[in-house]
Amino acid sequence: MNSTVTQELVEKKYRQYHKRINDALGKCFERERPITLYSPARYILEGKGKRIRPFLTLLASEAVGGSSEDALNVALAVEILHNFTLVHDDIMDQAELRHGRPTVHRKWNVNAAILSGDMMIAYAYELALQAKSSRHGELIHILNHANITICEGQALDMELEEQKDATIADYLDMIAKKTGCLISAALEAGGVAGDAAEEHLRSLVIFGEKIGRAFQIQDDYLDIMADDGKSGKISGGDVMNGKKTYLLLRSLELTSGKEHDLLKTVIMNKGIGSDRVAEIKAIYERCGVLDETASLINSNTEEALSAIESLPSPEGRDYLRGFANILMKRDF
Ligand code: IPE
Ligand code: IPE
Ligand code: MG
Ligand code: MG
Ligand code: MG
Repeated sequence: MNSTVTQELVEKKYRQYHKRINDALGKCFERERPITLYSPARYILEGKGKRIRPFLTLLASEAVGGSSEDALNVALAVEILHNFTLVHDDIMDQAELRHGRPTVHRKWNVNAAILSGDMMIAYAYELALQAKSSRHGELIHILNHANITICEGQALDMELEEQKDATIADYLDMIAKKTGCLISAALEAGGVAGDAAEEHLRSLVIFGEKIGRAFQIQDDYLDIMADDGKSGKISGGDVMNGKKTYLLLRSLELTSGKEHDLLKTVIMNKGIGSDRVAEIKAIYERCGVLDETASLINSNTEEALSAIESLPSPEGRDYLRGFANILMKRDF
């Protein structure tokens, strides 16, 4: 069955739900004291987050025939869990900027960032338990599984920084865990909130894994290629930290001579100074890796689109597909 969901309608719904999510997040963490516990949580949530995961939660609930209202607390739980991972990720990556503002551990300190993040996890679970659903056990299991898997992914991310013979397969496994899993969980939890059948949950999870992979590859691309300031992060942070990205690993295969040697230096020295980021960027632009990256993002998105053919609401399914297409082309 076909529906008539245009890209324009998808964008409109994204704008509306983005506001709805932000309004609801604005009511979280209202306690004043201890100030160094609750202020960082409010601060990270006031940033310019794209709200991709909670939007997917709401869309997933609708796509299985449920309502977005019943899924709202679950969506907020997912977004708060995601923001906890950002606060801790910035400590691990020694990142100075997020959403164009100082990171939590720079604005306060590492201890405040650790503790606020810890508190946010528990807060997220409380919200999930408040959702109008008879399936709280499943919801908590999904969040727990995602949480543990993200920790695995983040551990692998840091292990790969040290590993000189990392492969593209290692990278893909690592990003499935640090990023794909929470995107899948956002969709699966939305499905549960909408009281989905098991087979539909499975489709949502596969859709999430595929768009999650495309999303992190694009994040790595934007880390160095985004127009100045647009990522809200320090440009080139990944090469400065010696992160093993698809861009870096595939460029090593595509280059020879001096270019290859410079890329190898990033691996051997576990990073490179900020003054040399432009040289790496120029190699990426010359060696053909950017086209390959775009086609990898496209192929994963295409696979995602076909995974949700049989969801109960054709309209809901087409909103998910429309949003996957927006994500594939994102420059934000
Ligand atoms: C950043 O996620 C972390 C990754 C998994 C790449 P987002 O790019 O969705 O971050 P916000 O929520 O919009 O800030
Ligand atoms: C993010 O990977 C993964 C998690 C936050 C779990 P990155 O380290 O690439 O995310 P950004 O680029 O800092 O947002
Ligand atoms: Mg990071
Ligand atoms: Mg990281
Ligand atoms: Mg990144």
